[in-house]
Amino acid sequence: MKTEKNKRVVITGTTRGLGRALVAEFIRQGHIVAGCGRTTKRIHELRAEFGGPHTFDVVDVADDPEVELWAKGVVQAGSAPDLLINNAALINRSAPLWEVPADEFSKVVDVNLKGVVNVLRHFLPPMIRRGTGVVVNFSSGWGRSTDAEVAPYCATKWAIEGLTQALAQELPAGLAAIPLNPGIIDTEMLRSCFGPSAASYPAPGSWARKAVPFLLRLGPSDNGRRLTAPGG
Ligand SMILES: NC(=O)c1ccc[n+]([C@@H]2O[C@H](COP(=O)([O-])OP(=O)(O)OC[C@H]3O[C@@H](n4cnc5c(N)ncnc54)[C@H](OP(=O)(O)O)[C@@H]3O)[C@@H](O)[C@H]2O)c1
Repeated sequence: MKTEKNKRVVITGTTRGLGRALVAEFIRQGHIVAGCGRTTKRIHELRAEFGGPHTFDVVDVADDPEVELWAKGVVQAGSAPDLLINNAALINRSAPLWEVPADEFSKVVDVNLKGVVNVLRHFLPPMIRRGTGVVVNFSSGWGRSTDAEVAPYCATKWAIEGLTQALAQELPAGLAAIPLNPGIIDTEMLRSCFGPSAASYPAPGSWARKAVPFLLRLGPSDNGRRLTAPGG
């Protein structure tokens, strides 16, 4: 029987930024985290810092077979996630759309859109079998508005909004899918588009202290709601 203190939380993209801050705060509040990212050294650092029952694996969410193996391992070692957070994403180097090389555009779509679907494909069936769980897909202010030089990123985050709302219409009662704008937070991603002025936004740690209680309160009645996290 789960208490408010030992929810199983799966988070993609935990090697830095918002994902890394969420790991620390969920664990501090007594929850069990499974995280992933591509940077092996940082995954080893997470293992060394947090240890079991938390798990951290080198996984590229754009690689469907890798995600399948990861999901099987996480579910077998514990249970289906109570909370599944699709956080991992890339942003294109700031440039007008016609100057974005084809391979860079593809990478943004492969991670931000297809990567989210890979994670859903392998984690949702056990959540559906159990009949409970919340999926939070990170969108962005740029999933609801647009700006110059970030068209590939905007395209994927607008897609996440639509995809998540359609998914919400498919899920059985007891589950929820929520597109979430995390706000504006000083991370490497923000620095790549805002430059040094990113420093005037909250740090990931202070954002996570407000975002985690908010995330833990989400439930079936939030299914399909387009939400914005506090703290950013
Ligand atoms: N920061 C903001 O102000 C802001 C605003 C709106 C929305 N968001 C959204 O919030 C989320 C987190 O952003 P952030 O600012 O924390 O970005 P970040 O600092 O760039 O961190 C991104 C994380 O995603 C991981 N990642 C990237 N590609 C991956 C892949 N193929 N497979 C697995 N992990 C991958 C990265 O790890 P590896 O490189 O090790 O794989 C890293 O841990 C994103 O969805 C972003 O779009 C952020």
